[in-house]
Amino acid sequence: MEIKEMIRDYWDYRSEVYSTGIVEYSEEERTAWKNMLSSALNRREQLEILDVGTGPGQLALMFAEMGHHVTAVDLSTNMLDKARKNALKRSLDINFIQGDAEDLPFPDMQFDVVSSKFLLWTLPNPQKALSEWGRVLKKDGMVIAIDGDWFNSGIFLRSIRTVSDCIRSIKERKHQNPYKQHYNLIKNDLPLYSLKPDRVFRFLNDAGFEKINIERMDSLCRSARKKGSLLDKLDYAHPIYCIKAVKR
Ligand SMILES: C[S@@+](CC[C@H](N)C(=O)[O-])C[C@H]1O[C@@H](n2cnc3c(N)ncnc32)[C@H](O)[C@@H]1O
Repeated sequence: MEIKEMIRDYWDYRSEVYSTGIVEYSEEERTAWKNMLSSALNRREQLEILDVGTGPGQLALMFAEMGHHVTAVDLSTNMLDKARKNALKRSLDINFIQGDAEDLPFPDMQFDVVSSKFLLWTLPNPQKALSEWGRVLKKDGMVIAIDGDWFNSGIFLRSIRTVSDCIRSIKERKHQNPYKQHYNLIKNDLPLYSLKPDRVFRFLNDAGFEKINIERMDSLCRSARKKGSLLDKLDYAHPIYCIKAVKR
């Protein structure tokens, strides 16, 4: 099976149990996320935003609630079905399209912002993806990517992952871990699987971005650890970054 098919199949399966995010978030959490996003955008007018790897649509829904015009792309049709339902529940009009973040079905210079959350780590060719994001951005357009170093090999984070894997297996009533079945076969082909800021910086620079800023999202992580479910607490113990860059 091709690597992209494996990734799509995994997320089609995972969509059943994957957090619906914003729909489950409290008003307080949503406000904290929106404040973070609006300070990252740093612009007041209505923007054309493309959210890639949207999953159940967390970022797409928040940007739409903030008044922007949003298009959202994902490889997995099951995830997109979930995202459409989430948008409907909140009466939001978002253009959902099945597609590949590394080969976007849009003309050049269509968007002011390309956003992604928890996608970079699972791309086989992040350099190609970032060049594509640059291609569909208008001049001075901006990338906002949120991602974590989920597979850090340090002993503390490895132990945390062992615990969260166990909890997920019990919750999902699976004897075998479907994540391991898929990703153990392909992780060596994913350059940002263990995401390091200096590597992301180099990819962005080579893709023609400037004003690259990569910061840890410590305050949102602290609040997710305090108020989230046990799995949130474990996930948000990882270093999570907000990555911003402007098209040169
Ligand atoms: C970890 S989930 C993140 C979902 C959502 N952005 C969030 O924050 O929860 C990764 C998502 O990226 C999608 N994905 C993986 N590779 C992709 C690609 N090449 N193009 C578009 N979507 C992709 C998956 O289908 C999945 O929905």
